[in-house]
Amino acid sequence: MAEATNIVWHAGQVMVEERQGISRVRPAIVWLTGLSGSGKSTLAMALEKPLVERGHLAFVLDGDNVRHGLNKNLGFSDADRRENIRRVGEVAKLFLSAGVMPITSFISPFRADRESVRALVGPREFIEIFVDAPIEVCEQRDPKGLYKKARAALAAGKGLQFTGIDSPYEPPRKPEIHLRTDLMAVEQCVKTVLAYLKDRGCLLA
Ligand code: ADX
Repeated sequence: MAEATNIVWHAGQVMVEERQGISRVRPAIVWLTGLSGSGKSTLAMALEKPLVERGHLAFVLDGDNVRHGLNKNLGFSDADRRENIRRVGEVAKLFLSAGVMPITSFISPFRADRESVRALVGPREFIEIFVDAPIEVCEQRDPKGLYKKARAALAAGKGLQFTGIDSPYEPPRKPEIHLRTDLMAVEQCVKTVLAYLKDRGCLLA
């Protein structure tokens, strides 16, 4: 596809603080990364609920959901995963401008792609959370039966490029928060993140 030319940026008349006063958040992207089955979606939804209930506007962008629409033309090759994360980074940035806290739940296996999103919005507006459980645990949970399928495909000699099996996952080196979901209950993880967001001044009174 050719890149568009002759386009100009239009500035709006609404200050970002005006929006934040309504949404009661000084938003940053809450970026969850981890293996399939590590608990990202569960945590994302469990985090969104109390935030919104307490009047802080947050919205979950979830891998499986976004791949039903915006990113339905993408698969699981390295290049498609990169494009998936690039688009989600741009969408999350729009959410920041809208004054809403985006909670993103994507495997986002490549460090460089996550760092690109951090660079896109700036380090103050990016909170990387490593949702971590050993692959053996994720594989045992296998909520969608996908590890089983990936193992079977591998045994049959046709890989599925499944993360952790025959496609790589690069863990964060210095995430803002590291959660071991095999050792901590969901409520404990939610509490940890909420406390962090409060300390960081993301939640406005
Ligand atoms: S990412 O790698 O591009 O960040 P994303 O989070 O959007 O992945 O989608 C991952 C979800 O797609 C998984 O939770 C799983 O349900 C499903 N999935 C289907 N095929 C694969 C695959 N080959 N590798 C990983 N996840 C897959």
